[in-house]
Amino acid sequence: MDIPTIDLLSFCSSQSDDIVNKIANACQTISAFYVTNSTLPTFENDYEALQQLLRFFELPIDIKNKISGKINRDHRGYAFTEDVESNELREWVYIGDENGDSYAKNQWLEEEELPGWKHAIETHFKLMSSTGKLLYQAFSLALGKEKNFLEETFHREPTVLLLRYPSGGKCPEHTDVGFLAINLLDSTGGLQIKPRGSDIWVDVPPRENTFLCHIGDALERVTNGLWYSVPHRVRHEKSGYRYGIVMFNNPHAESIISPLDNYITNNFDENNEHKSLPIIYKDFHRRRLNELKY
Ligand SMILES: [Fe+2]
Repeated sequence: MDIPTIDLLSFCSSQSDDIVNKIANACQTISAFYVTNSTLPTFENDYEALQQLLRFFELPIDIKNKISGKINRDHRGYAFTEDVESNELREWVYIGDENGDSYAKNQWLEEEELPGWKHAIETHFKLMSSTGKLLYQAFSLALGKEKNFLEETFHREPTVLLLRYPSGGKCPEHTDVGFLAINLLDSTGGLQIKPRGSDIWVDVPPRENTFLCHIGDALERVTNGLWYSVPHRVRHEKSGYRYGIVMFNNPHAESIISPLDNYITNNFDENNEHKSLPIIYKDFHRRRLNELKY
């Protein structure tokens, strides 16, 4: 099964039907696509910029634990998770855009503990925002709407998840909660998806100077299930660390998540009612986090 590649520069210059159709088709079938030609740094074209974000993991554990995500209801901060039952072994830091309207609070180290780190994160958020905005526009067109529809209707709240997996590290099967996940993959591989209609895990090989995109549960709900929030997991079986950076673009906390008018009739259940009743995104997000087994 081939994962398609979307050229973001071509989308910027022409916003062609071909590209929009390719995205719509990917979101309904294989449920993921690569993106090339964005302004985001990748592991190949600007390793140093990404190292500025990931050097947090080199700190002693007692420093990292000063911003423990385990004490924060909305999972902001750092965690080392080693859980045999849930099949998880990895470290992560989860941070939201300081300029966003997010309802969860970030946690930061003192500047002298990791000089320049907060600035590097803020710089990355600016780059990420322009890419997220373009992909939101492409999604809006692919949904048959005006290009600013998603951003104007649901807003766009960027957050970033920095990841480090030791050799043997893993992340269990799950789907993401929000609208859009942008995955920067290093050269080690290890990400797998289970496309719609398949019981087979498909490797997502890293491709130079690209990132991998897929949608989350909230956008699946907005399309009443026509687009698919793909289950995915990580198995890092090589030596050395595997690094990843996932950038989420999610609805505003107070947005109402329910199927768009032209999607309500897509997906009737046995009672002839659409499956996705309206819910405030904040409640949806918390409920889904509580459902995760890790
Ligand atoms: Fe995920």
